[in-house]
Amino acid sequence: MGATFFALMIGPMRNFDWRSCPAAQQPSYPDPQQLADVVNDLRRRPPLVFAGEADSLRADMERAGQGEAFVLMGGDCAESFEKGDATTIRLKVQTILQMAIVLTYGASMPVVKIGRMAGQYAKPRSADTETRNGVTLPVYRGDCVNGHEFTKSARVPDPKRMLDAYLRSGTTLNLIRAFTMGGYASLSEVHSWNRGFTENPAYARFATMAGELDRSMRFMKAAGVDFGALTQVDFYSAHEALLLDYEDAMTREDSRTGDPYDTSAHMLWIGERTRDIDGAHVALLSGVRNPIGVKIGPDASPDELYALMDRLNPSGEGGRISFITRMGADLIEERLPALAQAVKADGRPVTWICDPMHGNTITSENGYKTRRFADILAETRSFFQVHRAVGTVPGGIHVELTGDDVTEVLGGGEHIAEADLAQRYETLVDPRLNHQQSLEIAFEVAEMLRS
Ligand code: PEP
Ligand code: CO
Repeated sequence: MGATFFALMIGPMRNFDWRSCPAAQQPSYPDPQQLADVVNDLRRRPPLVFAGEADSLRADMERAGQGEAFVLMGGDCAESFEKGDATTIRLKVQTILQMAIVLTYGASMPVVKIGRMAGQYAKPRSADTETRNGVTLPVYRGDCVNGHEFTKSARVPDPKRMLDAYLRSGTTLNLIRAFTMGGYASLSEVHSWNRGFTENPAYARFATMAGELDRSMRFMKAAGVDFGALTQVDFYSAHEALLLDYEDAMTREDSRTGDPYDTSAHMLWIGERTRDIDGAHVALLSGVRNPIGVKIGPDASPDELYALMDRLNPSGEGGRISFITRMGADLIEERLPALAQAVKADGRPVTWICDPMHGNTITSENGYKTRRFADILAETRSFFQVHRAVGTVPGGIHVELTGDDVTEVLGGGEHIAEADLAQRYETLVDPRLNHQQSLEIAFEVAEMLRS
């Protein structure tokens, strides 16, 4: 977000033909007039991000697709209004920056840092309703739509929540900009935060790399590198573009070019459940210039990928489209090669990103929705192996994480067991890597990048 030209956004855009397409995963609002009022209000509000910033992220994504940078996307499965305090946000940003230093060292390349933050408030769900003890209510769809509490008043979709989501996204971005631009997150500072992790005997197997990294930092200092100049980092925002009314209302025309941008985030992605080629989500995002991600599950076919590329990136612009694969540790080696080969044969550039979370969700014996750290690692390792075998570029990772000390994912160096899940299981939807597990993944991926 740094020294980018801040183009002013003028006039709200009404975009495209998405309203005539089938729209999956949308809430049923009881009062259409209230929805229309909220949307009209949102259309007149300032953009949250700027076109020039989205353009520089697109250029960064292009570099990652060519093997000249590596993408780190991370953050909550679902951000919550309740946990939107400064400490929670700061710890998440710190965690991502700490991971990024380790990855930068492993990759010997710039790391493109993207938070699943400042707008990740709407969730696709497998059913429209939830039943508990004979009572059936609308399912929780994220704080942008309804409340998590299992009561009728909380669960009825409320369009005014979109205004709250907009303001919270803005204050979150403001804090991120302050942290990353104000010198707080300088290279040497972030490096010193990593000491607590690397000095922990549980992570002794990373001691060699941690030692090398530390020596590199001391070498840079000794050689006179101006650490004062290394105090600002680019940090971008992204979320799933699920709620069509919200994303449409946030679309603005760039005053430089007249091109439409979805100004709710720098990057938007389309989920596995809403990537229907004729659906409203693909139609909406085909009409904006932001870099776009599409989640790709194990049942996707080469033809579906071609159709997505035709629709979202017909001219083959670098950095425009990322395929975020989420196959599951047991399926990736079987399913990813054909897709990677097909895209390679097409020739249009795609940035490949590994989401090792969403294909590895299980229910523990004691009833928690969880994931095994070992499966997350295994899918990531296979991602590198498959792309290297095919001759395509493993361009980044996409993980669900928090900076807090939660117990939601099994295993890792802290050996979180099923019985531990109850201690601090706080997520509203999917289980997240905690702070330590996030750093552990970063060291593991850094080793994969080096090998
Ligand atoms: C998510 O990223 O939280 C999600 C729902 O992913 P997917 O669309 O891949 O299932
Ligand atoms: Co999730």
